Amino acid sequence: MADSITVTDNRSGETLEIPIVNGGVAAAEWSKILPGVWFYDPGFMSTAACESAITYLDGDAGILRYRGYPIEQLAEQSTYLEVAYLLLNGELPTAEQFETWRNDITMHTFIHENMRKRFLEGFHYDAHPMGMLVSAVAALSTFYLDAKEIFEPATRDKQIIRLIAKMPTLAAAAHRFSVGMPFVYPDNSLDFPANFLSMMWKVAEPHFEADPVLVRALDILFILHADHEQNCSTTAMRVVGSSHADPYSACAAACAALYGPRHGGANEEVIKMLTEIGSIENIPAFIESVKAGNGRLQGFGHRVYKNYDPRAKIIKRTADQVFEVTGKNPLLDIALALEEIALSDEYFISRRLYPNVDFYSGLIYQAMGFPLEMFPVLFAIPRTAGWLAHWQEMLDQDSKIARPRQLFIGDGQRNYPGPVDRR
Ligand code: CMC
Repeated sequence: MADSITVTDNRSGETLEIPIVNGGVAAAEWSKILPGVWFYDPGFMSTAACESAITYLDGDAGILRYRGYPIEQLAEQSTYLEVAYLLLNGELPTAEQFETWRNDITMHTFIHENMRKRFLEGFHYDAHPMGMLVSAVAALSTFYLDAKEIFEPATRDKQIIRLIAKMPTLAAAAHRFSVGMPFVYPDNSLDFPANFLSMMWKVAEPHFEADPVLVRALDILFILHADHEQNCSTTAMRVVGSSHADPYSACAAACAALYGPRHGGANEEVIKMLTEIGSIENIPAFIESVKAGNGRLQGFGHRVYKNYDPRAKIIKRTADQVFEVTGKNPLLDIALALEEIALSDEYFISRRLYPNVDFYSGLIYQAMGFPLEMFPVLFAIPRTAGWLAHWQEMLDQDSKIARPRQLFIGDGQRNYPGPVDRR
């Protein structure tokens, strides 16, 4: 097969050969051949902004792999902390490497007392925990002044460990504050997901023991959410990181991107949608109103998956295990019926709209007792590993500052009309 395309420049009649590199047109080559001609690509639908060796995704085939390992195998056999190490280092850890990594993370779970007392407790009583998390992550940069030394390997590693370790502590602290409960300090005798559940739910017991089925389910959800190549929040992380900002500031930008309902906020929207539908009889009318353009079927559709999201399949299985402990989420029957009806409807079939990761994850979180506002926060905890892996990769590639072109559609030059009272 030829590895170039031929185009004719109709302005000059000239025929040009554009080389194809890795399935795409390399902008550096393009701009040499056709200087001043660039692509108008809102939403980056056809633009690869970087090279990456972290996550492979084939949306048509429904394949997701971290560093070559299929997501199904990782969800079945690995742990979130091990996956975080894999994403960041490219290889699974040996027993010794894992022990050092686990210990480093455990020893960095505490947050500065001023972060809690002066910063987090300064929020209004009904503050959204995700808003608190976005701000708290940014505020961390003011506690670690060495974070600016992003090209110093030991310092960079330290911030990576701090961010992964402190996310659950900040997340639980935001929740406890929003419901008026006292802060729970990390328990270093517990593993990563169990420690998070202890900080979330501990009341007066000396040691909080979460149900092992729920601990494992949360760890699986963390694995599934750890990375997803160039999604909106990871792109935000790379864009801000490309200016060489410190990782806390870049991570806060990524958290902010994740907050939106089209991204990490979608699982919250799924629960609201299922609650609004209320019963199976109301599903056909709801589907018709979506098809008529009144809103979207939340938890359906994906920019890259044009097949069943492999993460949604794993989550569906995990949901059954969780419901055996917590009792079935009453919204499950509506979700199952909605999925069945949508998947047999021409509108969804022709647009290749399938359930995505968010369709079932919210049902699990709700059954485990997490309030809706915590759903995007639960996404941010594991995605931190992915964000940092991409940030590190981008710095190691010495990439340029992100600075896209624009298509200017405003006014041409005009003269200033004089003082305000004469307009
Ligand atoms: N319900 C109904 N119609 C939809 C939906 C949906 N959920 N998603 C896409 N469509 C339609 C859309 O109206 C359009 O139809 P037409 O061609 O007639 O105009 C067509 O499908 C293509 O949609 P698009 O908006 O061009 O697709 P996109 O790739 O820009 O959007 C998406 C992807 C995820 C934002 C979108 O599918 C959506 O809004 N889904 C609901 C929100 C959601 O579940 N988000 C979570 C994404 S997965 C987790 C994550 O990444 O954070």
